[in-house]
Amino acid sequence: MRIDVDPSQTDPTSVYRLLTATVVPRPIAWVSTVSADGTDNLAPHSFFTIASVNPPVVQFTSVGRKDSLRNVEETGAFVVNLAPEGLFERINATATDFPRGTSEFDACGVEREPSLRVKAPRVAASPVALECELHSTLRIGDSTVVFGRVVHVAVDEVYMTDGHPEITRMRPLTRLGRNEWGTLGGVREIARVPYQG
Ligand SMILES: Cc1cc2nc3c(=O)[nH]c(=O)nc-3n(C[C@H](O)[C@H](O)[C@H](O)COP(=O)(O)O)c2cc1C
Repeated sequence: MRIDVDPSQTDPTSVYRLLTATVVPRPIAWVSTVSADGTDNLAPHSFFTIASVNPPVVQFTSVGRKDSLRNVEETGAFVVNLAPEGLFERINATATDFPRGTSEFDACGVEREPSLRVKAPRVAASPVALECELHSTLRIGDSTVVFGRVVHVAVDEVYMTDGHPEITRMRPLTRLGRNEWGTLGGVREIARVPYQG
């Protein structure tokens, strides 16, 4: 027996809860931006993925019009910082709805470092930063998908083994349903099987 849900006959919050509980685990883009007047901003976004390979483009979704989105529109750039397990409470703290003009870097005690290619700062303690220039935005209902062309990737060498970012050292957090977060589980490897027709 299945429970059937027709989104058009269900309140949007319930549909949202179902989707975020079932599209799991979601990687967390810890998005740093800067406004036109120079206030920097930091907020986690789990509606995040790779949009294209060549050119390299990543995407995150702003549900509603949040400071991160407004800053990207104003200054045309953002940084995706990988969200590591060691910064769990701080990442969550940066999701607080501080008034515009407050920097989460300062309010939550997150150390910044300058980016190489964009004005928005990076999170100093994040293993990987993807510096992005705004590619485009796509408005869908109450949400806006932000596409950013990756113009620079900065990986802390501590996390690299043989030129490869080592997952067990980076320990990225993920977002699940409700207030649940995931930590890195077991890592399994298997080679792709070529078709032998
Ligand atoms: C782990 C996590 C993931 C989140 N993912 C999103 C998301 O994908 N899109 C979104 O609009 N808000 C998301 N939020 C909520 C925002 O981080 C929150 O509204 C924040 O205050 C927005 O900050 P800003 O106004 O400075 O951009 C998430 C919150 C948490 C804790």
